[in-house]
Amino acid sequence: MTTAPQTPEGVTDPARAMYRLDPAMLEMIFSYCRARLAADPVPLDLPGDKARLEAALDGLIRPEGRSPESVLNLFATELAPAVISIDSPRFLSFIPAAPTKASLLFDMVVSCSSLQGTSWLEAAGAIAAENQTLRVLADLAGLPPEAGGCFVSGGSAGNLSALAVARDTAGRRASAPPRRGRVAVSDEVHASVTNALRLLGLDTLLVEADDHRLTGSGLAAALEADRSPGEVVAVVATAGTTNAGIVDDLAGIASVAGKWGLWFHVDAAYGGAGLFSPRVRDRYRGIEAADSLVVDPHKWLFAPFDCAALIYRRPALAKAVHTQQASYLEVTHRDDTEWDRSDHDGATYDEPFNPSDYAFHLTRRARGLPLWFSLAVHGTEAYREAVEAGLAIAQVAASEIRRRPYLKLLREPELSIVIYERLGWTWAEYESWTQRLLAEQIGFVTPSRWEGRPIARLAFLHPGTTPEVVREILDTMA
Ligand SMILES: Cc1ncc(COP(=O)(O)O)c(C=O)c1O
Repeated sequence: MTTAPQTPEGVTDPARAMYRLDPAMLEMIFSYCRARLAADPVPLDLPGDKARLEAALDGLIRPEGRSPESVLNLFATELAPAVISIDSPRFLSFIPAAPTKASLLFDMVVSCSSLQGTSWLEAAGAIAAENQTLRVLADLAGLPPEAGGCFVSGGSAGNLSALAVARDTAGRRASAPPRRGRVAVSDEVHASVTNALRLLGLDTLLVEADDHRLTGSGLAAALEADRSPGEVVAVVATAGTTNAGIVDDLAGIASVAGKWGLWFHVDAAYGGAGLFSPRVRDRYRGIEAADSLVVDPHKWLFAPFDCAALIYRRPALAKAVHTQQASYLEVTHRDDTEWDRSDHDGATYDEPFNPSDYAFHLTRRARGLPLWFSLAVHGTEAYREAVEAGLAIAQVAASEIRRRPYLKLLREPELSIVIYERLGWTWAEYESWTQRLLAEQIGFVTPSRWEGRPIARLAFLHPGTTPEVVREILDTMA
């Protein structure tokens, strides 16, 4: 192995070279991005083959570098086609994504500027814009002016951070905090909530749902029947369940939570986007009473990954739980009286608002900015229309399903998820249909279960999904 030449300061040339802008690499990467952004339609692509991927990557990373061209070429020809395009209008599994071009382009600005949003001291400009974006969501939900929070990596991180605040706040308030708290949930709650409760050492009070919807009366009945309701510290309601897009009885749950002194967390990771639409806004009545709320813009608000909004009614409660204390961080918590003019050329500083204080993180990408840019460029009306496109295509799908004798619609879609059955099919038949659809690049639709039975499930949110795509998919089930 040859030793890299050293400069007089002891820095090697290859180390310096990593910081020199290579115009050819720049052009190559930009032209890849240009082509991907312009792809219409986006190719759905295919699942990866482990052996082929391993062979392609074998020995790639070695002591000496390689030409950017060869590495990018490997990515473009071997790796990218083995990632199913979640932003394709034919991706209707799980919860898809459909980032706007403006948000994708601004994501590049965030990357190229290494924009972080950890503390006000370091990143006031980024944080101010993120907070403006959180305010739009808080206003749509009807939360009070003092509500606030931060963007985290996803709904899972949001749920975990919020439930940590619920647990610790209850512990501080109670004269005799429960040894092990519990959280009321229905069995439709997202898997990330169940996981968060396990990680936080919290147990569940399982509330029987009414036709798959968690209701205030169900919650009250469960609390009244429970032997130790004092252990229950919070309730998690879902505004848009992942399997069927059902919005829980938020108003009823809010009222019972208020009466029993429970923290009211609303997981609107998928469904929160519906707040933009007056057509369905009424379903969310009661969301304004949330103590904490999670909405994922990387789902139905057309932002790139990874972007979830976590908003608290009283952010101070979250700050008391999540602030990391260390001598080297002290400076980030100094208020404006300490950062006076003598420190900083006449600059004044407000009460420092550090997004790091509102979730279990410290360093964080300014991940709210791509949404901020796109919202400011397109305006909220365009967002309303894009959300309503998802609601509308779900209604089209429901009526197309009703027209086909071999299919059975399982419930009227409340938001943009449609569940239905192909009469007579087993789980294995759904799975082979999924594989066939993908192999023919018609769509990516995975099965789920409903009341114990295997079903098909379509999750819409891409404004580019047309009735023709829906009909094409449904016709393959004949
Ligand atoms: C209702 C709900 N909550 C939480 C999550 C988890 O979000 P993430 O995948 O961003 O962690 C999801 C994901 O689909 C969801 O639908």
